[in-house]
Amino acid sequence: MSSPHSILAISGSLRSKSSNTGLVRMAQRLAPDGVTFQFWDRLGDLPFYNEDLETDPPAVVREWRDVVSGADAVFIAAPEYNFGPTGVLKNAVDWATRPLGQHALRGKAISIVSSAGSTGGAHMIEQLSGILTLLGNTVVNEPAVQIVKGAERISADGTTTDPEIEVLIGQRLAALTTKI
Ligand SMILES: Cc1cc2nc3c(=O)[nH]c(=O)nc-3n(C[C@H](O)[C@H](O)[C@H](O)COP(=O)(O)O)c2cc1C
Repeated sequence: MSSPHSILAISGSLRSKSSNTGLVRMAQRLAPDGVTFQFWDRLGDLPFYNEDLETDPPAVVREWRDVVSGADAVFIAAPEYNFGPTGVLKNAVDWATRPLGQHALRGKAISIVSSAGSTGGAHMIEQLSGILTLLGNTVVNEPAVQIVKGAERISADGTTTDPEIEVLIGQRLAALTTKI
């Protein structure tokens, strides 16, 4: 049984000094009162999706599906790699969307923010939003959080030298919370 206000958060970067992991930790600190905020940091432990494993999925896959099922909303902070989502993030989405028709991600409100390079993650956000919308999710991407060269200003511990980023993350969490 899920909490009425629970947000699951993931980072689409495995880098130890990841600025997107920093955005997740920032969101964890800024989460509104009454909201349970869980950072699931095992995306890198998921095997590559393989339909052969569906008959007896590895424990980490079952854990991933369970945390997704238990959340009302998902907060994704991810970089853009080659004008699209990172492989590790797309892999996690694929695992979460099977078995078809009764999958864990079904019906969740989902927010995507990005700290990337020169594009600020605009292409990644557009593509992933399209994918999640087709999957039937409610995508909440206002206000836009597309941070150009964010690694120069955001540390993996969730601190930033740019107070405007904290304002945007706080506003986004408020917008996401209204959908759950
Ligand atoms: C393989 C690769 C491809 C990248 N492609 C893009 C890109 O298409 N657009 C962009 O804005 N930044 C791109 N970048 C830069 C990353 O988005 C940027 O370094 C970001 O800060 C990485 O996120 P992290 O700090 O959370 O690890 C790329 C980086 C790598 C390693």
